[in-house]
Amino acid sequence: MNTLIINGSPRKKGLISQMMQIMKSEIEKHGATASMVYSNDLSAKPCIGCMACRTKGECSYSQDDSQRLLKMIQEADNIIIGSPCYWGNIPGQLKLLFDRMVYGMMRDTDRFPEPLLKGKKCILVSTCTTPWPLNILFNQSHGAIRVVREVGHYSGFKIVKVIERGNTAKRPQLTEKDKAKCTKAIEKLLSK
Ligand SMILES: Cc1cc2nc3c(=O)[nH]c(=O)nc-3n(C[C@H](O)[C@H](O)[C@H](O)COP(=O)(O)O)c2cc1C
Repeated sequence: MNTLIINGSPRKKGLISQMMQIMKSEIEKHGATASMVYSNDLSAKPCIGCMACRTKGECSYSQDDSQRLLKMIQEADNIIIGSPCYWGNIPGQLKLLFDRMVYGMMRDTDRFPEPLLKGKKCILVSTCTTPWPLNILFNQSHGAIRVVREVGHYSGFKIVKVIERGNTAKRPQLTEKDKAKCTKAIEKLLSK
């Protein structure tokens, strides 16, 4: 059982990173393996929208870390995506990577898109400064979750848990409740 953690935060000591670290340790405590990749450590060019990958099944525009990340996603049993909310959305670098990997995650058909990564279990996590319940009602962390949910849904991921943590400017430390949510999410991810 191998879990890939995609950390979309540029802040290696921020809340997303702390939660991703707790989840990683928890997975390892269960005797499973987990690796973490920081989107901001990856180098990839933005998609040029040529759509050639949709027929070729590969991106011939630029060989870069987007292909490397796609391979890691394809090889993983489970995926955890952590993303802070930026402008009610996910950070640009994370979006750029998902844009570049679309051909390996879903396939266009005459009807509904075909998911190419069916069966992988997935956890989605987002943080934002907007406090609860406004982070949900005004699509702040919820906006970031909507985007990663879209990626997960069309890729065929089975989303087992979503965690949204608001008010991060006023409450910058993880509470025991936050930590417990991370632990519980991993139990769900690793359960059969
Ligand atoms: C460029 C940028 C845009 C942001 N946009 C929003 C936003 O739209 N709504 C919000 O509530 N917080 C926003 N924030 C605040 C972050 O979501 C918040 O600081 C979050 O806790 C960062 O998480 P991290 O420490 O895990 O990286 C933004 C921060 C940055 C740097």
